[in-house]
Amino acid sequence: KPSPVKSAVFSVPSYACQRRTTLENHNTVLTDALSLLAENAELSDEDGRGVAFRRAAAVLKALPSAVMSISQLSGLPCLGEHSLRVIKDIWENGASSEVESTKVSERFKALKVLTGIFGVGAKTADRWIREGIHDLHQLQNSGQTLNRAQQAGLQHYDDINQPVTKAEACAIEEIVEKAVSSVLPGAQIILTGGFRRGKQTGHDVDFLITHPEEGREVGLMPKVVSWLEAQGFLLYQKTTRNSYLESKADGPGRPPSNMDRFERCLSIFKLPKMEKQGAKDSQNVTENCLQANQKSDEPECPEAAPDRRWRAVRVDLVVSPISQFAFALLGWTGSKLFERELRRWARYEKGMSLSSHALYDNNQRKYLRASSEEEIFAHLGLEFIPPSERNA
Ligand code: GTP
Ligand code: MN
Ligand code: MN
Repeated sequence: KPSPVKSAVFSVPSYACQRRTTLENHNTVLTDALSLLAENAELSDEDGRGVAFRRAAAVLKALPSAVMSISQLSGLPCLGEHSLRVIKDIWENGASSEVESTKVSERFKALKVLTGIFGVGAKTADRWIREGIHDLHQLQNSGQTLNRAQQAGLQHYDDINQPVTKAEACAIEEIVEKAVSSVLPGAQIILTGGFRRGKQTGHDVDFLITHPEEGREVGLMPKVVSWLEAQGFLLYQKTTRNSYLESKADGPGRPPSNMDRFERCLSIFKLPKMEKQGAKDSQNVTENCLQANQKSDEPECPEAAPDRRWRAVRVDLVVSPISQFAFALLGWTGSKLFERELRRWARYEKGMSLSSHALYDNNQRKYLRASSEEEIFAHLGLEFIPPSERNA
């Protein structure tokens, strides 16, 4: 018997970069389940399965309303057998047995805890687990040698695993703005990553830095880092220099790697707490931060001090020459799946290679220039999708 209210069959295009995905998600129960399986696959070095679950979740995120029946899903792209089984399980039993058993599995829990340490990836976590290390306590007592990033990650574990708020991102933006304009007047910074897509929280804060005159940005990062270091804003930083021209890996015929070669800095900021700050004196964040940093006495164990006046925040800085700025901006705004889908679309539908540096047309055998994101979408034959709708 047909149900009295007929639910519409959904229809969405198959590449995430052809769709508008806002932060308004009508199917969080389903997408949370599929995202958890994606995360588990990624942590288990099964990237193929991870992407399949990410694509399935992204299709459901793009739907205009909640799924009311399985029949509405017929004809949707990217929903493989496995994802459909998970959805049906939730549908019929209220939860997916696979998701529930993954959540409580010792291995998954250990992978989550260990990769929560800045500087620890899935491979390292897996090796530690095989050596019997499942939590931070066991790691600290194991005598494992940790590199500088991992030491900082362990030291600031709780702070780094607490989401960064939009207000904190704005405070850091002011600090970076001040650093950049002090060392190179005229240089510009822009907030990228999840915050540019309109997210209210993030795991870090991402910035892109450039200068309107090509070439003036060369050597900028070490100067910015020195300024920040001198003011006491950095708990950790690792800068890698630009290697784009040396490697030429994005050149004709070669697949663009998704790792770019910009001058970049992965850091942990020491952000003074802002709670006593009213909205009216928000223009003074930098001044107040400077004072707070100068006043603070370093305790033996920083995270343990009960009323310390700062918190650790992960910050990524990238410097791009203006000629590559549009590509860098598009590449660093995300989401990760949206980026992956843009590159896949470029390659398989257009015969082009897209990276965070450039767009190469394999048929015309030439680079396609662009000075805005809009131009890049146009080169790719895609409708422009604004950052707030790239939340695939
Ligand atoms: P949250 O930080 O959790 O809010 O999410 P996010 O979307 O900001 O993620 P993240 O900070 O990890 O990355 C931001 C964007 O930068 C994403 O689109 C990534 O694909 C991109 N990104 C991260 N690392 C690299 C890299 O090494 N090279 C390039 N080209 N892009 C990167
Ligand atoms: Mn981010
Ligand atoms: Mn980042």
